[in-house]
Amino acid sequence: MKVIRSISEMQSFALRRQMQGKSIALVPTMGALHEGHRSLVRRARKDNELVVVSIFVNPLQFGPREDLKKYPRTLARDEALLKEEQADVLFAPSAEDMFPAGFATFVDVPALSATLCGPFRPGHFRGVATVVAKLLQIVQPNRAYFGEKDYQQVRVIARMAEDLNIPVRLVACPTVRENDGLACSSRNRYLSRREREEAVKLYQALYLGRELVEQKIMTDSGKLGRRLMQVLKTIPRSRVDYVSVVDPVNLQAMKKIRRPALLAAALWIGQTRLIDNVMIP
Ligand code: PAJ
Repeated sequence: MKVIRSISEMQSFALRRQMQGKSIALVPTMGALHEGHRSLVRRARKDNELVVVSIFVNPLQFGPREDLKKYPRTLARDEALLKEEQADVLFAPSAEDMFPAGFATFVDVPALSATLCGPFRPGHFRGVATVVAKLLQIVQPNRAYFGEKDYQQVRVIARMAEDLNIPVRLVACPTVRENDGLACSSRNRYLSRREREEAVKLYQALYLGRELVEQKIMTDSGKLGRRLMQVLKTIPRSRVDYVSVVDPVNLQAMKKIRRPALLAAALWIGQTRLIDNVMIP
């Protein structure tokens, strides 16, 4: 596996491969790789001749009081995992190269950033859309792979790519979970043993919510939200940001639940913020 740190080297490498007619995949990540990331790389490997995985802890998508400084950085282990999965290139640019002094251009998708996590993380999706637009420009992949665990992120990026006519096919991959149902996340490693045991209730609440809707026991999203809050409130030292039922395309809240619907939640357990969602088809 080739490790590329310079943006211009990445650009010329990708361009050469493109001219040889190779299909290129990009899997953007912030490192601290886990089984969720692994599943994206596997999928990319299956469908493409060249697989580029980027690792970049993007300062633009962290708020001033968020965990940029303590975000886990495990580059040596990440490299080993990517070799195992037969990625061709690890692209790991520096923050100074990605956002040099004078950097002044941002990509914003306000409508899709105003719901769910948006209000709790001002500027987050603008940071995501901007860095992903740059990565797509640099690598110019045929396909780019994202996880449905970050469902709102997928929608924001899809809208951005469409609106800016970026010729890439986005592939959304299913959420990979631990044995008990907790969605894999780089942030899970912040959890203490006790918190980790409690964290499964996030998935259990969403699972229960899906059951209640599918069995037509609940059709009112307010009522459903209150029911699920009862479950989440039993987690010690937790604080719920939201439990929402939204339209899976425009992410607007639904009062009366129509299907398909997306049931999504975010909560804090101690110092750790977790998100998850389930689709109700
Ligand atoms: P990161 O959190 O490292 O995630 C990288 C990719 O892995 C994202 O597409 C995310 O949705 C996917 N992913 C994370 N956990 C997953 C799981 N349990 N199952 C399946 N896929 C999962 O998301 C980001 O980084 C950044 O915002 C990024 C897109 C790289 C832009 O900086």
